[in-house]
Amino acid sequence: MQNYPSGILKKIDERKRNNSFRNLNDFPDQQIDFSSNDYLGFARSASIFKQASTILENNYLLKNGATGSRLISGNYSLYNTVENQLAKFHQSESCLLFNSGYDANLGLLSSVPQRNDLILFDELSHASIRDGIRLSLAKSQKFQHNNFIDLVEKITKLKGKIENIFVVTESVFSMDGDSPDLKKLAAICEEYNCFLIVDEAHAVGVFGEQGSGLIQQLQLEDKIFARIITFGKAIGAHGAAILGDQKLRHFLTNYARSFIYTTALPPHSLATIYAAYQELETSDSPKKLQQNIIVFKKLQQELDLEKYFIESDSAIQSCVFSGITRVKEISALLAEKGFWVKAILAPTVAKDKERLRFCLHSFTAKEEMEEALSLLKQFV
Ligand SMILES: Cc1ncc(COP(=O)(O)O)c(C=O)c1O
Repeated sequence: MQNYPSGILKKIDERKRNNSFRNLNDFPDQQIDFSSNDYLGFARSASIFKQASTILENNYLLKNGATGSRLISGNYSLYNTVENQLAKFHQSESCLLFNSGYDANLGLLSSVPQRNDLILFDELSHASIRDGIRLSLAKSQKFQHNNFIDLVEKITKLKGKIENIFVVTESVFSMDGDSPDLKKLAAICEEYNCFLIVDEAHAVGVFGEQGSGLIQQLQLEDKIFARIITFGKAIGAHGAAILGDQKLRHFLTNYARSFIYTTALPPHSLATIYAAYQELETSDSPKKLQQNIIVFKKLQQELDLEKYFIESDSAIQSCVFSGITRVKEISALLAEKGFWVKAILAPTVAKDKERLRFCLHSFTAKEEMEEALSLLKQFV
């Protein structure tokens, strides 16, 4: 093609000049995994795979695809079974499945807050939250990361001029791995009559009894307007759900466009979610993961690396360096030694806050963590 849209060429060029151009690389199976979100090893569990196949056979669901959207031809009995299972496990009045966490945030935030409403969201919110907000007719403003003084200032300034205020945050931030003080945030939302929305993508499987999430660990279920849980991370499958009350479920079924206008998940996705949650109910993997998080943090201290890491009790431990080239170099050096630690670059994170994001797992040996951090010590 001789002529080409100039914006595309310019933007590609810009990424290449900044050394931040992205390529799709296969995950090298032989490397020690410090980058996947498969925190509990469920994505590679042979017993979950087998159990999912049995569920499909027992339910006569030997179909490759859902055949349509849920409101047309794509709803089948397993949807109801899984939604009930999840509502019970996560102690929620209702549950509605979405095709992904991205779709769940997009559908929720674009449809629920209306024209006269306001959305206040943490400045480090995931792209799916921000994109949902961009599609909403409501006004929106970000507040400083985990800074509730800033949040309250924004609430009080706009209250009275606004019909409803929605406050959006994550229980574990995807790039920093830290958490807001959720008890305090829930109390603020109660005091100022705001509706709190919490994305639990990186908290499920990691915190709470049997990995039920941070909201349940803190017993805040009744204080939250909507929780987003995703299955592509610790659950090792694919898809997501919104937990809330029955009215919210009815509303989303009628108005969330990313729910309505898309083909439903195939039966094997649902069977995998079902089998993974069955496994989670009795699994000791969340406890093993918690132990590994403690070990990893202790090693950071012992090796005097703590100063590079963002304070976090989650499976995401981010080691911040400034400069794309430096982070990429260190990631490549670690890969040469057999450790797969992803370099996270601007614009995914702020410029000069580039980082190596260590994702921890229940199945990682202490020696592997020791070796990875000792190497890191040599390279920084
Ligand atoms: C906080 C957060 N929310 C939502 C998502 C999107 O979830 P999914 O991968 O299921 O689309 C992610 C994924 O990276 C995430 O980190």
